[in-house]
Amino acid sequence: MMKQELSILILDTDEPTASNLKLLLAEIREVGVIVTMTDLSMALKQIKKSDPDVIVLSLYPSEDLSLKLAEKISHAHPHCMLFVTAPKASPELIIRAMRLGAREFWLQPFRSEEVKNGIHAALRLKNRSEACSVNGKVISVFGVKGGVGATTIAVNLAVAIAQRTLKDVLLLDADFQLGHAGLYLNCKPKFSVLDIINNFNNIDPGLLKSTLAKSSSEVSFLGGPAGIEEADVIKPAHVEPLLSLLRPLFDYTIVDTRPVFDEINIRLLDEADLILAVANFDVPSIYNAKRCIDLFRRLGYDRDKVFLIMNRYVAHEVLDLEAVENSIGHPVFWRIPNQEYGTMIRSINEGMPMSQRMPKGRFSVSLAEMLDRFNGNLDAVPAGSAAANRPNRLRKLLSTWSE
Ligand SMILES: Nc1ncnc2c1ncn2[C@@H]1O[C@H](COP(=O)(O)OP(=O)(O)OP(=O)(O)O)[C@@H](O)[C@H]1O
Ligand SMILES: [Mg+2]
Repeated sequence: MMKQELSILILDTDEPTASNLKLLLAEIREVGVIVTMTDLSMALKQIKKSDPDVIVLSLYPSEDLSLKLAEKISHAHPHCMLFVTAPKASPELIIRAMRLGAREFWLQPFRSEEVKNGIHAALRLKNRSEACSVNGKVISVFGVKGGVGATTIAVNLAVAIAQRTLKDVLLLDADFQLGHAGLYLNCKPKFSVLDIINNFNNIDPGLLKSTLAKSSSEVSFLGGPAGIEEADVIKPAHVEPLLSLLRPLFDYTIVDTRPVFDEINIRLLDEADLILAVANFDVPSIYNAKRCIDLFRRLGYDRDKVFLIMNRYVAHEVLDLEAVENSIGHPVFWRIPNQEYGTMIRSINEGMPMSQRMPKGRFSVSLAEMLDRFNGNLDAVPAGSAAANRPNRLRKLLSTWSE
């Protein structure tokens, strides 16, 4: 549904200028709530609390301090549209502000026409993003232990879904530091998650979709930056806006995560409609699977949001499947067989996933059968429901881990 109103937060230490702008904004029909703050030390808290559509930040009197605040706002709240104002406009100042994510620069004293045009542009942008209503499903693939095959399953699942359903599928490599899922698909991305975060307010969703790297198997790909240390800029607060941007563009977004419970990962799992928890059929994996399933429960995830997959499965004379399920406290949804080493490595080195290179191989056949069994579940899950129903308990747990 399109919302016809914008909420606005004015951040200006100069009371008369702030009141003047508030009066001008109040005359615009599409403007809803307007909050004014002259004590900027509380600005970030207020933004978190009121989540405004537009933030108007005055760069006067201290440009450097205000630009630092602008930078913090852009990183922590990339979905808020940031406008800046100042009594003098040097090209250098405007460029600095724009680089930090400002969308508009209003000269003081304000001209009502300029303010009105800016607000209408903001409303168009907001409506455009709300109009993208595919509301696809997000499936996060999580290894309960390193090396169990999470990336292999995420990549091949993306390919299998794209090939079988002919729907739009994105593989998001959320190992932002050392991810290499793009290599499995032989994709050379032109830009990364970091570029999206840095330009959040200027992104045209349609253009983004059409310019993402695409594999020969018709899977779109997005991953972390090339420079490992640059990934540090990606923060937990970016996860929700990033997925909100991507979710409407693709029928399925498959997220390949790292096997850790840090805050970025928890948010990726939290936002997912389904979690595929990947384990191997050995004691260390089973031990971790039990601990992960327990944590998922404590995080408040529905039991039927989590699907346990035993990868590289070989029937075991010591470990009995039923006993393993009892010990983990969760049913095993699917078992994927071990594929012969040479074939698997060749598929990785050639950048052609098994599901594409060898669809009749036992790994690919098993994955396709898993998808068939899944399909009912995939269709039954209301997209976006997980995030919408996020329990307060989880918020509390998250807030003790961060911020
Ligand atoms: N079913 C399978 N049969 C044979 N080999 C497999 C299978 N699944 C994964 N592998 C192999 O196991 C290795 C690790 O796989 P992968 O990188 O997907 O694991 P991961 O869980 O993503 O690891 P990480 O913790 O590093 O992210 C790879 O060499 C992959 O080819
Ligand atoms: Mg991996």
